[in-house]
Amino acid sequence: MHRIWPAGDPRQVDDTELTALYRSPAGSCVRVNFVTSVDGAVEVQGYSAGLGNPADHKVFGLLRMFPHALMVGAGTLRQEGYHAVRLDEPRRAWRQEHGLRPYPRLVVVSARLALDPAHPALAEAPVRPVILTHAMAPPDRVKALSEVADVLVHGVDEVDLARGLAQLRSRGMTQILCEGGPHLFGSLTAADLVDEVCLTVSPMLTGAGAGRITAGPASTLRGLRLAHALFDDGALLLRYARKA
Ligand SMILES: NC(=O)c1ccc[n+]([C@@H]2O[C@H](COP(=O)([O-])OP(=O)(O)OC[C@H]3O[C@@H](n4cnc5c(N)ncnc54)[C@H](OP(=O)(O)O)[C@@H]3O)[C@@H](O)[C@H]2O)c1
Repeated sequence: MHRIWPAGDPRQVDDTELTALYRSPAGSCVRVNFVTSVDGAVEVQGYSAGLGNPADHKVFGLLRMFPHALMVGAGTLRQEGYHAVRLDEPRRAWRQEHGLRPYPRLVVVSARLALDPAHPALAEAPVRPVILTHAMAPPDRVKALSEVADVLVHGVDEVDLARGLAQLRSRGMTQILCEGGPHLFGSLTAADLVDEVCLTVSPMLTGAGAGRITAGPASTLRGLRLAHALFDDGALLLRYARKA
């Protein structure tokens, strides 16, 4: 991978520098990670995998090394076939050296709670997951999912993400990586809760059909600054941060 921004010193980056470039900023942070085609598609035939390349896969895995919690919408969990969030030994060792628990905690956001408690991402998780939902969620689903996860209720008829994130912070989960999907990203943007976006632009056109990386409620326009840009085999790996 080559660093092309900040300008002035374009060069190949090794794994140590890649880690430094993507390490979470100090303090609390909600970072969102997506891959898109050049023409803005969020998926190919229903899955994000068709958009990825080796550099994107590398950064996807690296980003999981840093956070206290890994947040995902229930739709993405269901669609993308999530496994339990486990990290290999080098990433666990890095976390230990940096005062983190071995694994990030999975946080699933869901209104309907149409989730199977036996889903491997929940039932086989190395750390008890959290499910964020609202007060109108079906009580039988809350009961069933409470067997495998801490079900946190925030909001009356929609999930209050700001309050949910505040509770996560009060439990020590200040650094959050959100892996999508589009509806969760849209809700986080609408509530002005996004601090960073890591975006891979894959060198391909998918044509019409797929949605964008964001969906759901309207938001006001927000400016971001480009923190870094990497280039690898035609793909751009961008990290944007909210303006101070
Ligand atoms: N390109 C990429 O990097 C990338 C990343 C992730 C996903 N994707 C793709 O995106 C597609 C899925 O899109 P999606 O928009 O359905 O994903 P999503 O946002 O993960 O899922 C939507 C579902 O998640 C729950 N949810 C999300 N935000 C919520 C909120 N604010 N409050 C309450 N519940 C919330 C709801 O679940 P309930 O129905 O249980 O209430 C909702 O139906 C898939 O094709 C996937 O492959 C692509």
